[in-house]
Formats: sequence, C-alpha cells, structure tokens
Amino acid sequence: MAPSPFIIVAIDGGAASGKSSSSRTLSERFHLLHVDTGSYYRAITAELLRLGLRADDRPAVQAALAGLQLGTRLNGRSAELTIGGRVAGDEIRSREVNDQVSHFAALPELRAALLAYQRGLPAVGRQHQFRGVVMEGRDIGSVIFPDADCRFFLHADPVERERRRAGQGLQDQIRERDRIDSSRQASPLTCPAGATSIDTTLATREEVVAQMAAAIAARLPPA
Ligand code: DC
Repeated sequence: MAPSPFIIVAIDGGAASGKSSSSRTLSERFHLLHVDTGSYYRAITAELLRLGLRADDRPAVQAALAGLQLGTRLNGRSAELTIGGRVAGDEIRSREVNDQVSHFAALPELRAALLAYQRGLPAVGRQHQFRGVVMEGRDIGSVIFPDADCRFFLHADPVERERRRAGQGLQDQIRERDRIDSSRQASPLTCPAGATSIDTTLATREEVVAQMAAAIAARLPPA
C-alpha cells in the first residue's frame, strides 16, 4: 500500500494490556496526536456521577448527555476532552469511576455522544501539524475507524494484567470490567477482523512497540 500523508493508528485491548504505554511511545516517536478514549468514558462517567445519575436511569442519562458541552484541549501531544470547558482531574481514576465506567460505557446513548466527537479528532491532528493520530480504546479499529491505516489488538494474561495494575498502586476490577466491556451489545471489546493481535504477557514494552512501529513506519511517507 502507498504511504499516507496522515495516518490513523487504532490500538484496542482490555485494561492493562499495554495500550497506554505503547500508544504514548508511538505518539512521541512518530509525532502522532495521542488520544486515550478510555479517559473520555471516565470523564463523562465522573460528570454523570457528579450529577447524581445512575447507569440504569437511561432517560435521565440521555437528557444529561444532551446538555454536556464537549470540546478538546491539547496537552503536549495528547488531545484531552473538555466538558463545559474543563478537563477532568484525578477523579477519573477513583474507585467509584472504576466501578461504574463499564456500566455507563455500555449505554448506546453515551457511545453515540462520543462517536462523532472521536471521528473529528484527526482534523484536530491535521490542524496542529501532527503526522497522524494514535487512538487507544476498545472499539477504535472495529467501530470508530474500521479503515484505520494500522489496527492493533493487545491482550495479556489476566494475572499479569492485575500484577501491572498493582504495580501502579491502583485498585481496579479489571476482569469484571473486561467481562462487561466484552459482553455488551453496543461496540463490544473484540479483536476486529484484519487487526494485528499482539500478546503482551511475556513481551517487553520495547518488543511490543517495535512490532507496531515497523508497521507504522511502512505506512508513513519519509519525514
Ligand atoms: O482504557 P480504560 O481502562 O481507562 O477505559 C475505561 C473504560 O471505558 C473501559 O472499561 C470501557 C470504556 N471504554 C469503552 O467502552 N470504549 C473505549 N473506546 C474506551 C474505553
């Protein structure tokens, strides 16, 4: 395939599968706009919880979503979501958000609210002279950008993933979140057909990044 002047890289996988570290490294190496869509679902969840809403009250969630003003702020190479002009803080990694985010993320209304927003981010990358965008999440290569230039699916043994989270000092029900994320009706976590599946259980970060970087370099025109 011919190189693209602006590329889209999709990285999907469960919690602690290695998406975040590899997408940040690739963003830096190739000057790609970095998008952590999990932080967007977390920020919206935190906001809905702040408004006193529960994921099983769909009419109220839908009404609240209609009132949220979503925007973007660049922080270095990362595109951060703003809600009402404000970027969410550490509360998006709280125990409550960890426990609730998969329930809110399963709602088609919430996914629809973020779909067009996410598809608009390559335009932000172009506007700021990035060479492309690297977007990490659960449904990027399957739903948001099924025609992305490079699509990767990272996975790892759950015991190893829990060890990684504990090493970060974080308490997270990753198996339970993965179960909900994989079994929901709307955009479930899955390895999309044609994506490159990478088992990160025993691989070093450098090995994982090297495999992805080789595929990305082949799609980019020379700098
Ligand atoms: O990447 P993360 O663990 O911070 O994501 C938090 C939750 O957000 C995850 O459990 C499911 C949801 N999510 C999603 O449904 N779709 C995405 N593209 C990204 C995250």
